[in-house]
Parts: sequence; C-alpha cells; structure tokens
Amino acid sequence: MKPIQVGLLGAGTVGSGTFKVLQRNQEEIKRRAGRGIEITMVADLDTARAREVAGEGVKVVADAREIIANPDIGIVIELIGGYGVAKQLVLEAIAAGKHVVTANKALLAVHGTEIFAAAHAKGVMVAFEAAVAGGIPIIKALREGLTANSIQWVAGIINGTTNFILSEMRDKGLDFATVLKEAQRLGYAEADPTFDIEGVDAGHKVTLMSAIAFGIPVQFDKAHIEGITKLAAQDIKYAEQLGYRIKLLGITKRTAKGIELRVHPSLVPAKRLLANVEGAMNAVVVHGDAVGTTLYYGKGAGSEPTASAVIADLVDITRLHTADAAHRVPHLAFHPDAMSDLKVLPMAEVVTSYYLRLRVADQAGVLAKVTGLLATAGISIDAVLQREADEVGGEGSTQTDLIILTHDAREGTVDDVLAELQALPTVLEPIVRIRKEELK
Ligand code: HSE
Repeated sequence: MKPIQVGLLGAGTVGSGTFKVLQRNQEEIKRRAGRGIEITMVADLDTARAREVAGEGVKVVADAREIIANPDIGIVIELIGGYGVAKQLVLEAIAAGKHVVTANKALLAVHGTEIFAAAHAKGVMVAFEAAVAGGIPIIKALREGLTANSIQWVAGIINGTTNFILSEMRDKGLDFATVLKEAQRLGYAEADPTFDIEGVDAGHKVTLMSAIAFGIPVQFDKAHIEGITKLAAQDIKYAEQLGYRIKLLGITKRTAKGIELRVHPSLVPAKRLLANVEGAMNAVVVHGDAVGTTLYYGKGAGSEPTASAVIADLVDITRLHTADAAHRVPHLAFHPDAMSDLKVLPMAEVVTSYYLRLRVADQAGVLAKVTGLLATAGISIDAVLQREADEVGGEGSTQTDLIILTHDAREGTVDDVLAELQALPTVLEPIVRIRKEELK
C-alpha cells in the first residue's frame, strides 16, 4: 500500500524532531501502522528553515493553504501554535476532510468545542497527544488505558519551565526573579515566559485532561489559574521544614458538587513521587476507582519527545482513518452525545488544605487569637511552626513568622477568615496562603 501523505504546518523544533524520528524509525513505524507515513509537504513562512528541516524530496511552501488544497494529503500536522491563524487553518483542514494532528493546547483548551464539533460533523479525527505533557502518553492513558474507571482526580506537574524554576529556587535558596533570569539565559524559559510562569500553559493542559477524564466540554474560561511569580524562597524553605515541597500543579477532581479545575502552587508531601519530580520533567498522577493511583513521568517538551507524541497520533490515524467514524475513539473519550453536564466549581467551593504564613507581632495572645478565629470558622489545624523572632527579623526583632497547616476546608470559608486575620493589628504583612495537596 502507498504511504499515507502528511502535510506539516510549522517547521520549528517539534517539526524538525518529527522529520528525524519518522525517518530514523520508518521501518518500525510502518510495521506498526500497517503502511508507510510520509511528510510530503511543509509550510512555513521561513521557507529556508523549512527546506533545512525537510531535506530533499519534500515540497516546501510558504502558504499553508497549498497543503490544505492538496487532495493527496490525508493528514495535516499543525505546529504553528496560538489561536490566531492556527485556528483558521485547522478549521479549513477539517473542512477539506483532512485529519489533524496538533500540539496546540491553547487552541484546543479555548476553542476545542468548536473544533471537535467541526471534526465530528466532517468525520475526521483531531489528535492531540503532543498538547499535554509532551512525550508522556497521558492522553492515550486517560482516553483508552483507563477507560474502565470512574476517574476521581488527576494532578500533574505539566509545565517544565516552572518546575525547573521551583527546583532551582529550592536547591539554591534563590528568589523567583533571579532564577527566572538564569532559566532564560540557559534557554529553559522563553524570552516571554508569561504563559508558563503565570500558569496559563498548565491551565490549558489540565483543561484538556479534565475534559477527557470526566467527559465534560473543554472549559478553560472556568479554570482557576495562579502561577509562581509571587512565591517567596522563604515559603519553600518553611514548607521543607514541615516535610513538603512546593510544586505548580494542574489539578482536576470529581466531587459530589461538581468538578474542580485549577492550577496553582501547592505543597506536596516530600515523600510523594510527584514531589520528587525535578528540573524540567513532567509527571501526572491519575486516580481511578478501579486501578487506584497511577503515575506517568517523562519529558514534557523538546524536539524528539514531543515528536514521539505527534507520530503516535499519525500512527493512530493511519490505522483508523478507513474505519467507520462512529467506531473510532471519541476525541474527548466520551461520545459527543453522552457528555456530562457536571459543572466546574467556582474556587470558593473547592475543598483542600492550606499553608498559611502570618508575619505577626511577637507578643502574648497572638497565636491564641489567630487559632481562635480559625477554630470559630471550623477550620482545623494540622500543624503549627513558629520561628524565633531573632531568626526572622534579626537580633532583638519583635516580629515573627507563624506558619499554620490546616486540614481540609472550603476555600470560601478560608477567604473569609483570612480577611478577619488580616485585619488584626498584630498581623503585620499580607498573609501568604498556599494550597496543600496530600494526594492520597
Ligand atoms: N512551555 C512548556 C513547558 C512546554 O515549559 O513545559 C510546552 O507546553
């Protein structure tokens, strides 16, 4: 059988890895897919770069629409990124009857409902393994491997840039801004790192995992997103003294009231495997009712790791494209007419535990007042750490840090009591609140 022909939009790092791996492993990939897979066209505004990436025998064009218009092309790989031209081209490729492989998490997390509906109507597949956690086959695991389970929760380190920064902050005791600069110098962080450090990239990825885990539409606009820019080295140190590490987690959880969907820094017990994922690595933990807890670890970015996911999708499509569309694996794991209307909970309804740091006046009755207000609100304390005033503010200091770990509490209740605590004259600085996940 003749190879299936593929057109690539965007000849950057991942595109280059896709060429290399497809070429290197072409025989094995063919034996798996049942026929050869060949990229025959590449579109990139920088045609010189595209020519270098593609090598001989591949048609290079500046206009992506030439690929979409070519009837011989069966699959379009979109590696442009963003929601602008990429969205338009993906919709045009679908309308032209092409199957699509994309690494574009932002596009699917924000416009997934429209894109999957268009693909469903046209009977084509949109595959996106590379969009979440790079080379880790987490989409495949959630959508197919764990299909027997009622998935209870998913929690992951799904942004390598921020995990690298947090690892460096902890190892070297440095503050966020210093480590970010170093990460940019070393090429671990982009020149504009906003999406990474503000948690947006992780938000896109957890939105996609949530949709597949629970059979709900993609709803990035309902996700609660906090990044790592406000984290102080001091809190990383205190967390460590209490047996925890701070990680930026993407979390989605099924509760009796609805679905939690959130990204924020979290204390994780140091003994959990997830707490020991260091540097730019990614890891995702999935808890299903039948299987229990499972862990997926690997490179979340990079040329060949991401190409590994792109090619897995190419193989899937090659195997399935002649199958009746109704018998393919649904895009979001659940059939489109069987999606759940479980709502995404507002943050005030989320229940979790907390790390609180209060800079207080070091005088009689302060601790009693603070714990009293927490008790009145029904918030139970798990642990308290009080530093010696000298250690916090230097010799003769009259201020100290009070660190409190709470048991599970409703976030709205915690917000209210924090407002009361903040108003106390003996609480001298803005209270630091970091959520804590035991991941049991
Ligand atoms: N910028 C991402 C990261 C990789 O740092 O993990 C692509 O989503």
